[in-house]
Formats: sequence, structure tokens, C-alpha cells
Amino acid sequence: MTRIKRLAVLTSGGDAPGMNACIRAIVLTASACNIEVIGFKHGFNGLLEQEYQTLHAMHVDNIIQRGGTILKSARCPALQQANGPAEAADALKQLDIDALIVIGGDGSFRGAMAISNFYDGQLIGVPGTIDNDVDGTDRTIGFATAIDTALDAIDKIRDTADAFERIFLVELMGRHSGYISLAAGIAGGAEQIICPEFGQLNPDNLRPIIKPIQHAQLLKGKSSYLIVVAENSYPGGATSLAEALTKAIGIECRACILGHIQRGGSPVGADRILATKLGAFAVEQLMHGATLVMAGEVNGEACLYPLAKTGDKAKAIDPFLVRWQQQIGSY
Ligand code: F6P
Repeated sequence: MTRIKRLAVLTSGGDAPGMNACIRAIVLTASACNIEVIGFKHGFNGLLEQEYQTLHAMHVDNIIQRGGTILKSARCPALQQANGPAEAADALKQLDIDALIVIGGDGSFRGAMAISNFYDGQLIGVPGTIDNDVDGTDRTIGFATAIDTALDAIDKIRDTADAFERIFLVELMGRHSGYISLAAGIAGGAEQIICPEFGQLNPDNLRPIIKPIQHAQLLKGKSSYLIVVAENSYPGGATSLAEALTKAIGIECRACILGHIQRGGSPVGADRILATKLGAFAVEQLMHGATLVMAGEVNGEACLYPLAKTGDKAKAIDPFLVRWQQQIGSY
């Protein structure tokens, strides 16, 4: 067992529902093992500026159900400056931090890796991002909630699309990953799903999208038609694509950009449970000496994965669902 006296935690990058549940699990697990916990504010910025708060059990009372993060989150350009990682390591040393837990995505983990070049303490990552684009874990904290949020919107848009017999394009987040779009599109019964994994669409050739629309019209007549478009799949996004389609097929197409709504809201049960499990597991593994790893979950089992490898390759979206969606007429 490694004796950890003082542990720090921060949330970094795009906030995700369940980050609070994870902070809570870390604080409760550490407190039970007599480890002091501090939380840096505003991601790595709080570390560089030594802006932090001590976290006791009472500070994490009643936060498991809250979206956002009590520690605030941010991206941190200062950490990317040449001396940023060394300064961050100095701050950790000055504050007597034996171990740091970073809750965030692969960009945040890159920041942690950079700090590790100058820091002798332990560093561990917990995957927290709605995008689910972190390799080494089946699910990231926030993904399940983001699907349900998107789904709620898709179901509502379906009502108006159906009443008005229109084509709707719903743009979902995910950065360069189609995880949210594939999941919410499948669950929402979308007629088409367009993801970055299928390659950038060529604005000069919309045939692959138009053909299934025309096919559906032949089969069903005029009816609602819903296309889920992952961000970064089409130049100018769903709005441009809706305009191009309206022009090309002469049917009114409307775009709905869901945006940051997908990052908010109370975490669903699955995210609270995952966050609790990974937060507690991270503390336990630190006590066993783990460092430079991410605490993830694969096939239901908590497991460790090298932090440096989490962003190595794009995590593949479900090939079975992709194949099925394409079979039923999707792009
Ligand atoms: O990584 C989370 C995420 O919400 C992505 O899905 C999205 O591309 C990005 O962050 C948006 O970033 P910002 O909040 O800086 O606009």
C-alpha cells in the first residue's frame, strides 16, 4: 500500500453530467481512508494558480444528482505553454500533493501526462466527457445522460416533423466522434445518421443522402423524416446541409442544433453509478501505487488503462449498429 496523505482532484475540459458524482465518490472513499482531499477550481487553471478548496464529506453532500461540476471546469491554454507543465508540477509539490486525479477527456489526460514529466507524485485519470471518445473504457461519465437528453429532443422534434410532414436534421455534439449521434439516432428511430466515422460528406455530391429520402417517399409517401447529424460531419453543419437539401430536393428541410443542452442536466442513474465506481476505484488504485493510468470500465469490470494511450486511436462506434443503420437505408 502506498501511503497517500494529500490527494487533489480537478475537473477539466467540457463538463459532463456525473462529474459531481465522481468527486463525491473520491472524497468519500478518501475520507474513509484518512486521506485529505483538495479540489482545484477551473480545471488545470486552479492548479497553476493554486486556487483550491479542501473537500470534506459535507462538501459533497447532496451533489450526486447535480449536473455540471462544483469545482468548475475549463480548458487551460496556460498548461500548453512551454513552462506550463513544470509550473503545474511545482504547484503540486508546494501544496504537498501526493496524488492528482484528473476527471476529463483525452485532452485533459494529455495535460496530466505533460505534468508527469516534472512530478514525482501519482497521477490518475477518470474519463468524464459526454463524447465517449476515450479509448480504454467502454463508457465515459456523462455519455448516458447526453444520449437521453438528445433523445428527449429527437422525440419532440419527431412530433412536429410528423405533424408538418417535414424533413428535420438534428445536429448532435461529439467533437469528432459519432458515439452520441449513433446512440441517440438509433434510439430515436432516425431515418438517417451521419457521423464523422463515415467520412466527411461531399457538398458536391448529396446523392448518398438524397437517395434514401426519395426511396422512403416512394414507400411511405410524404411523412416525417429525421436525420441525425453529428457535428463536424458536414461543412457548415446541419444548417448548411438542410439548406443544400431543400435546394436539391425541393422539400422543406429544417435544422435543429442541440448544442450545449447535451452537457447539462441531472445525470441519469447509469452515469451516477459509473461515476461512483470509477471515482472510488481511482482512489483505491492510487493506494495500491497506480500511476499514469486511467480508471475505466470494460465489460462491466473496473480496470486500468495507460493514460498515454487513451487518445491514441479513435474509439470505434458499434460496427453492428452502423451496419444495420446502413442496411435500412442510411448514408
Ligand atoms: O467535449 C465535449 C464537447 O461538448 C464536444 O461534444 C463539443 O465539440 C465541445 O465540447 C464543445 O466545446 P465548447 O463548450 O468549448 O464549445
